[in-house]
Amino acid sequence: MTAKPIVREVLPADLRQDRLPKHVAVIMDGNGRWAKNRGLPRIMGHRRGVDSLKRLLRCCRDWGVGALTAYAFSTENWGRPLEEVDFLMTLFERVLRQELAEMMEENVRIRFVGNLSGLPQSLRAEIDRAVIQTQRNQGIQFTVATNYGGRQEIIQACQAIATQVQKGQIQPEDIDETLFTRHLYTAEIGDPDLLIRTSGEMRISNFLLWQLAYAEIYVTPTLWPDFDQTEFHQALHAYQQRERRFGKVR
Ligand code: IPE
Ligand code: IPE
Ligand code: MG
Repeated sequence: MTAKPIVREVLPADLRQDRLPKHVAVIMDGNGRWAKNRGLPRIMGHRRGVDSLKRLLRCCRDWGVGALTAYAFSTENWGRPLEEVDFLMTLFERVLRQELAEMMEENVRIRFVGNLSGLPQSLRAEIDRAVIQTQRNQGIQFTVATNYGGRQEIIQACQAIATQVQKGQIQPEDIDETLFTRHLYTAEIGDPDLLIRTSGEMRISNFLLWQLAYAEIYVTPTLWPDFDQTEFHQALHAYQQRERRFGKVR
C-alpha cells in the first residue's frame, strides 16, 4: 500500500500571513437551493456540502488558519421534514467514520459544540470516538456545531452558574465575562475573527451569539456546495482590508 502524498497549497501572494484570522467560523448555507437549481433532491446538496467542508478544512490548514468552526445543524433545523433530518444525522455519522483516519493523518483535532445529548445515540458514539482519538492532535482545531443554538448555549451556561451560586460555590458578584465564557460550549476554543456565510443571507441564525460579538462578517452569494478555495481566498482578502477597531478610535 502506498501512502497518499499530502499536497499542501501555498498561501496566495496577495494575502499576508501575519494578518490571517486565527479562527474562522462558517455558516454553511445554501445546500438545498444548490440541489433545487439542478432539479435534485435537497439531500444531494448536503452530500456535496461535505466536500466543500473538507476542502475548506484543508485550505485552512495549508494556509495557516489555526481554527475552523462550522455550523452543521441548528436547534431550529429539527423543524425540517423528518427525512431530511434523518438523512443529515446519518450523513454526519458516516462522514465522521470515514474521515477519522485522515483527520489523524493530518493532525486535526475535532470537537463538537451544541446539545449533543439530543443527537441519535449512534451519532454520539462516533462523535465521542473522534473527539477522544484526536484530542492530542496539535494541528488545526476543527469544531463542528451540531444541534447547536446560541440562545440554548447561553441558557445552559446560566443554569450551570446559577447552580454554583445556589450551592454557595460562587457569589453573584463573581460572575463576569471570563467566568461566563468558561461555561459556554466553546470554553476551550476562543472567539472567531471572521464569520463567513454563504448563500447571501444576511443573518447569523442563532450561531455563536456571544462569541461573534466582534467578528468580521463576510457574506457571499455563492451556495455552500460551490464554496471553494477561490471563494475562501476572496473572503480572506476582504478580511485583510478591514480595520478592526473593537470600539476604539485609531
Ligand atoms: C445548509 O443548507 C445546511 C443545513 C442547514 C443543514 P440549507 O439546507 O439550509 O440550504 P438552503 O438554505 O435551504 O438552500
Ligand atoms: C443555518 O442555516 C444553520 C446551518 C447552516 C446549520 P439555516 O438555513 O437553518 O438558517 P435560516 O433558516 O436561513 O436562518
Ligand atoms: Mg438554509
